Amino acid sequence: MSAWLEPQALLALSRRAREEAEDAFAPGDVDMSRPFIHEEFTQLFHTPLYAELDDATRLRYNQLSGMSSNELFMMFETGFTNRVIRRVLNHRMMKRDPVLRECLKIMLEEEKAHTKMFAALNRRCHPGIYSHRRFYFTRPGLFDALALWVLTHVPQHLLLVLWLVMIMEEFSNYISRRTIHDPRSDTLGELEPAFVELHQRHLRDEARHVQIDANLIDRLLAQAGGFKRRSNARILRYLMDQILTPRRAGVAVIRHLVGEQARLRDQEAGMLAALRSLGSEPGFARALRAEREMKLTRLFMERFAEYRFIDAYAR
Ligand SMILES: [Fe+2]
Ligand SMILES: [Fe+2]
Repeated sequence: MSAWLEPQALLALSRRAREEAEDAFAPGDVDMSRPFIHEEFTQLFHTPLYAELDDATRLRYNQLSGMSSNELFMMFETGFTNRVIRRVLNHRMMKRDPVLRECLKIMLEEEKAHTKMFAALNRRCHPGIYSHRRFYFTRPGLFDALALWVLTHVPQHLLLVLWLVMIMEEFSNYISRRTIHDPRSDTLGELEPAFVELHQRHLRDEARHVQIDANLIDRLLAQAGGFKRRSNARILRYLMDQILTPRRAGVAVIRHLVGEQARLRDQEAGMLAALRSLGSEPGFARALRAEREMKLTRLFMERFAEYRFIDAYAR
């Protein structure tokens, strides 16, 4: 038995999901006394300084991080995945694969709907910031530029960008499953219900997307020799380092927090230093260490030694 579903089964599931689509996600008032995301997905949580912050500061830091992470989801899905999948749709290998092609078209529609969900929730969380823009903590166009660069400068780019899409979508599924199955944060109580609902809706489609990614990567790897895989893996490593090093958004969240609460001014430098002390994204390391998560990434890593470097991000 294959480790992933074949296109025919995926298409049936995609169509069914479209038929059974519920009403659009329309979050009501957001409960501002609750954390928005698990603390492990916020950066300062992984530094000793977190224990020194009082509850109110930790809560607000968590909420701002939740909004920022919604932005990152949007940015990746509209800027990167969307661009990559469009490119795949026009690739000659898809001519022989009308069923998988259809799956990809539905995937594109779904990503568009996801972006609307993330944007709607952020507007509810902070209308002052998001009523007239979608991106505040993150640099819009970052992933767009990255995708464009790879697609135009790297030969044999499709394998590379599809790896990135699969890794990020599996990571996103891990975040969703953690949120849904255990909606209690470490120190701040139950997660805000609209965030849990958002992840339920997101996971419903994304669990299928990673299977589609696996089908595509499998086809491309079948045609790639050792040399191509090695050079591919080298660039993948470079791009993962870029994406997984906490930088701009994390700094912007701390600056905004201090802007809101003047009493934190003395702690700003300490918080920024703590953030800079982090290596690569600690939440991603947990996903790689978790049992039964990042399954497809692992499976391809086991089959092709060139990609085993990914294991290093687990530490
Ligand atoms: Fe999505
Ligand atoms: Fe997706």
